[in-house]
Amino acid sequence: MSFTVAIDGPAAAGKGTVSRAVAAHFGLAHLDTGVLYRAVGKRVLAGEDPVAAACALRAEDLEVAGLRTPEVAQEASKVAAIPQVRAALVDFQRAFARRAGGAVLDGRDIGTVICPEAEAKLFVTASAERRAERRLKELVEAGHPASYENVLADVRARDARDTDRAEAPLRPAPGAVYIDTSELTIAAAVDRAIAAVAAARA
Ligand code: CDP
Repeated sequence: MSFTVAIDGPAAAGKGTVSRAVAAHFGLAHLDTGVLYRAVGKRVLAGEDPVAAACALRAEDLEVAGLRTPEVAQEASKVAAIPQVRAALVDFQRAFARRAGGAVLDGRDIGTVICPEAEAKLFVTASAERRAERRLKELVEAGHPASYENVLADVRARDARDTDRAEAPLRPAPGAVYIDTSELTIAAAVDRAIAAVAAARA
């Protein structure tokens, strides 16, 4: 039996952590759909056409190093505004969502466009300042030092691009459980997400 959990929200809101914890708790497969757009963005930075790169995307592209840099994130949000790029990635995401045993997908448009019929939908967000603090910590830990001001500006630029685009803009899906993690510990955010998914499974 398939069971889909759709988790959407802006950059660095804690979606990844929450999604991995929900998947582990319920024994579901997990797909971070941002990696698809990052992989396309990385191929574009290497000189490829965005639509051709999205159509030719292979599983190996999702495993390459260097997908989590700020440059790739910005390019990902640019290619993500191109309708043909999004269209090329739909079938893969829907097939993953409906795999036997169930799946968690996290991204920007999972509950609104990719899986509007998902059994559980969550919208995970936090203030831009809190998200910039968290992203800065991740970057520093990964060996990419940056300034808080630059990271905040990057978060805001990506928020604006993701929210204002015509195709699949970032929005809470109707009926999504809204979790603002600004003042929550990771454990508390995870507990809320697990409770919401458990209620949908009951
Ligand atoms: O990890 P972070 O939240 O910073 O970003 P990500 O989830 O890896 O996504 C990178 C970019 O891909 C986003 O800024 C979006 O523009 C785009 N994206 C999207 O349009 N739709 C998705 N389902 C996932 C990501």
